[in-house]
Amino acid sequence: MMNSMFRMHQPLLLSPQEGVFAHRTFKTSIIEKTADRLLVSVPYYNGKVVLLPRNTPVKVEIPLKQVFFSEISKKTAFGEYQCLELALPYQLLKKDKLKTPRIITVTSGKGGAGKSTLLINLAIALSQQGLRVCIVDCDLGTSNIDVLLNLHARYTIQDVIEGKKNIFDILLEGPCKTVIAPGSSGFPPLTSISEAQAQKVINSLGKLEPYTDIILLDTGPGVSNNVMFFNQLVDEIITVTTPEPHSITDTYAALKVLVDLKNVPFLWLVINKTEGQEEADSVAARIMSAAERFLSLNIKYLGHVMEDIHVSKSVRRLTPCLLRFPNSEASQCYKDIAENFSMTKQQVTPAKPHFRRLKRILPIS
Ligand SMILES: Nc1ncnc2c1ncn2[C@@H]1O[C@H](COP(=O)(O)OP(=O)(O)O)[C@@H](O)[C@H]1O
Ligand SMILES: [Mg+2]
Repeated sequence: MMNSMFRMHQPLLLSPQEGVFAHRTFKTSIIEKTADRLLVSVPYYNGKVVLLPRNTPVKVEIPLKQVFFSEISKKTAFGEYQCLELALPYQLLKKDKLKTPRIITVTSGKGGAGKSTLLINLAIALSQQGLRVCIVDCDLGTSNIDVLLNLHARYTIQDVIEGKKNIFDILLEGPCKTVIAPGSSGFPPLTSISEAQAQKVINSLGKLEPYTDIILLDTGPGVSNNVMFFNQLVDEIITVTTPEPHSITDTYAALKVLVDLKNVPFLWLVINKTEGQEEADSVAARIMSAAERFLSLNIKYLGHVMEDIHVSKSVRRLTPCLLRFPNSEASQCYKDIAENFSMTKQQVTPAKPHFRRLKRILPIS
């Protein structure tokens, strides 16, 4: 299907969404398709080349076959042809209907525990193992994955939840082939997701499933309604805590709320900003034994991340630690966590995962 859709010389309509040519439509044709790019001939209008600057958002239509939104990534040449290069959207890339992705939230009792930095570095380490990883920023209102990765989001998960955009319209390419569904900050956050909005989130995750091996959801701290909504959608939760006493008590308080979920997802624990393995192991042992004794909750220790100045340095430089300082102590920890995580693949019921999630939160029998 892919090849027949992207035949050489296949006519194609290009409609810039911004700039002087906004919403005019130009005829062009396909010159070449690579794994993730499409080269198209430069369009002409009244005998003159239409100059479309880099980063111009465009609607691309392959008549009767496909419509998608993309961006001019650059002007280039292919043999004698002058071309424009367009990034192919994610839905046209690698698809595998048979696999079910692992869907995970990263949560913490307290803000600043290190959820977003762990999630980003874990995503990159997993992607480096060859897995197809998607990050969905569900920290509604105070999201920052796009900022931490220096990406410029036009549309966000809030547009999807409000029904204005399709999940595929908002996806951005992150580092190391990760795919990012950015969140929105600065907008008034949704106080509590309605049933119709919940349905949209679940449908969106369902749409991403064939294209991903791992979907990581970032959430806000604590146990607000929204955070708990995302927590009950997933199969696994990674809880991040620091060794500080108030962080530990807040983690315990969050676990107390999690235990009341209809189906408690598989729980992982990560100790972040630790002085060393010994401290991390003893904090983890305390939390796990309290959870087991008082809440009958089984938590598995996934690993620790050293307190390391390279993490905050890389945050300031808007590049993930694993890429900026691959040999730092923290980066080694992120890699170990990713290794542990992918070694312990959870047994997920293969039948209709999308429906399973729906059943978890909606009152259907
Ligand atoms: N292992 C670490 N060592 C040192 N600083 C860290 C570490 N992990 C996180 N940080 C710092 O803590 C800050 C908050 O982390 P972040 O991931 O944004 O937390 P959260 O998403 O839980 O609110 C980051 O800006 C980073 O500078
Ligand atoms: Mg965060």
